[in-house]
Amino acid sequence: MNAHDSERLAGLLEEAGFQAQKPESALADVMVFNTCAVRENADQKLYGTLGMLAAEKLNHPTMQIAVGGCLAQKDRGEILRRAPWVDVVFGTHNVGSLPLLLERARIQRESQLEIVESLEIFPSTLPSKRDSLHSAWVSISVGCNNTCTFCIVPALRGVEKDRDKKEILDEVRALVADGVNEITLLGQNVNAYGVELGVRGAFADLLRACGEVEGLERVRFTSPHPRDFTDDVIAAMAETHNVMPHLHMPLQSGSDAILKSMRRSYRADRYLGIVEKVRDALPLASITTDIIVGFPGESEADFQQTLDLIAQAKFEMAFTFKYSKRPGTAAAEMDNQIPEDVVAERYVRLHAFTEEIAWQQKKAQVGREVEVLVSDMPGRKDDATLRQSGRARDFNLVHFVSEERLRPGDIATVTVTQAAPHHLVAENPPNAVRRTRSGDVWESAQASTETRTFLSLTPRP
Ligand code: 5AD
Ligand code: SF4
Repeated sequence: MNAHDSERLAGLLEEAGFQAQKPESALADVMVFNTCAVRENADQKLYGTLGMLAAEKLNHPTMQIAVGGCLAQKDRGEILRRAPWVDVVFGTHNVGSLPLLLERARIQRESQLEIVESLEIFPSTLPSKRDSLHSAWVSISVGCNNTCTFCIVPALRGVEKDRDKKEILDEVRALVADGVNEITLLGQNVNAYGVELGVRGAFADLLRACGEVEGLERVRFTSPHPRDFTDDVIAAMAETHNVMPHLHMPLQSGSDAILKSMRRSYRADRYLGIVEKVRDALPLASITTDIIVGFPGESEADFQQTLDLIAQAKFEMAFTFKYSKRPGTAAAEMDNQIPEDVVAERYVRLHAFTEEIAWQQKKAQVGREVEVLVSDMPGRKDDATLRQSGRARDFNLVHFVSEERLRPGDIATVTVTQAAPHHLVAENPPNAVRRTRSGDVWESAQASTETRTFLSLTPRP
C-alpha cells in the first residue's frame, strides 16, 4: 500500500515540475518520507533519520523535508515538535495536497501540517509514476472495517471505501495500453470489496472481468482476509486464465484462543479448510502468509499450535513479526503482555521453522518447468554467464541463466534445477521465450531514457 502511495507522490511531484533523483546521489531540494506505523520500529527509524537531517538542513537551508503516511497521521503535531526543521507533515488522506503544501511552506517560510480524518476523493485519481514499466498496482479499496485488536491501520486509514468497478477496469485497460502486463489489485481486505457497494461476490466478479482484458498476462491481489474468502473467489481464481496461482493470506496465529483475542473472526480449521480448497482447485498454487508471535496471552502451547498449522499449511513463504504494541489498539491495553525475551526466543524458532518449511516447498519444484516474467532488474554477469531474474506464476523468485539479455516484461520458460529457502534457480538457458508488448515498450523507453535520469528534485522555474 505504501509503495503504491509513494508512486502517487512521485507522480504528483513530477506533474508539479519536479524530477526524481536517485537515492545515492547528492541531496535533493525536497525529501519526502512516506512512513509506516504498523510496527514500532518504523517510528524509531523516522525520528532517527530526521535527527540526522537537521544538520543537512543547516548546510542547505532551502532543502524542504516532508513527512507523510501513517506515522504522520498518528503523530500529527508531534513530528513538528520533535523535528521543527520539517517543512510539511501530511496525513494518509492528504497525499494530493503535497505539492501545494511544499509551495506554501516555501513562500510563507512556515511549516505546514495538513491531516484530515477521512477521505473525500479516491486517491487513484491522482497521477502515479510507476517503479516498474510492466507491473502496476491498482487500488480497489482503501481503509478497513475490521477491528483486529493488534492493528493500528483502521485508526489511521479510516473505514473501507471501495472503488467503482468500471473505474478499476478502465485503469487496468489504460495500464495495459501503456505496456503493463501484470497488475496487483490492492486493498487492506480485498475480498470485502463490494460490501460497501452492496454487491455480493464483487471481488470474484472483478477477477473474472480482469480475465477479459486483452494483453493482461498476470493478475495478482493482496491481501485477502480468511473471513471473507468465499468458494466463489477460489472458483474465480481457478477459472480465470490470467489470475496467478498464488495466495497471500495472513494467518497471524494458529491458536484459536489467540485468534479470538486478536478478534480475527476465523479459526485454525477454517483457515486450513481454505488452504485445502485452494490446493484442490489450483494444484500448483503457492500459499504465503503473515504471522505474529508473542501476542498478549500467547502460551507455549498456543505457539506450538502456530507451528503445527505452518507444517500443515506448507507455506511457501511467511512474513514473521514480533508482536508490537501500538497505541490506541485494544491489545495494547491487555494485561498479559509477553516478556520481550520470550517473544524473541519464540521468534527465532518461528523464523527457523518457516524457513525450513519454505525450503521444502521449494525443493519440490526442482525439475518443474515454470514461466518467469522477466523483472526490471538488469541481470548480472558472473564468469561470463548472464543471470536474469523474475517471478514464476506462483510468485516464486527465479534466477536463471540466459544466453541473450531478455527484456523486462518478457516471459521465459525455464526448468528449475536448484532450490534455496528464498528462491529457485534454473542453470540452463530458457526452453522458450515469449516476447511481449511490455518488452517493446521497455525497449523504446530505453532508447529515450536519458531524459528520465535523475536531476535533483527541483521545481520548474
Ligand atoms: N505487531 C506485529 N505485527 C503486526 N502486523 C500488524 N500489526 C502488527 C502489530 N501490532 C502485521 C500483521 C499484518 C502485517 C501487515 O503486519 O501480520 O498482516
Ligand atoms: Fe489491520 Fe485486521 Fe484490517 Fe488487516 S484486516 S488492516 S490486520 S484491522
